[in-house]
Amino acid sequence: MSWIDIGAIDDIPLRGARKLRTHLGCVAVFRTDRDEVFATGGTCPHRGGPLAEGIVHGRAVTCPLHNWVFDLETGQARGEDASIPTYPVRVERGRILIDATLLRRAAA
Ligand code: FES
Repeated sequence: MSWIDIGAIDDIPLRGARKLRTHLGCVAVFRTDRDEVFATGGTCPHRGGPLAEGIVHGRAVTCPLHNWVFDLETGQARGEDASIPTYPVRVERGRILIDATLLRRAAA
């Protein structure tokens, strides 16, 4: 894995999300009420809704446009044959690190 710094955890509130830019493209980063952090593709596969503006509940996010619900760990949409890419992330000394290896593959 090749980790890159994409921002400070304090910039994302609990049960919140942010769209963050990397040199390999944008990702949506979510922080749950249990202080877990997840990163996914930022665009809903239904009609392009901005997932970083969705509602975070448990380990899931609800798309703000038509309420599809995505599991943040697997990327699978509940009740739909669709998914979003997920990326490994970790938090170290207050900074969010993302695995650039998978981002590179997604950008290719
Ligand atoms: S665009 Fe996300 S549910 Fe329709």
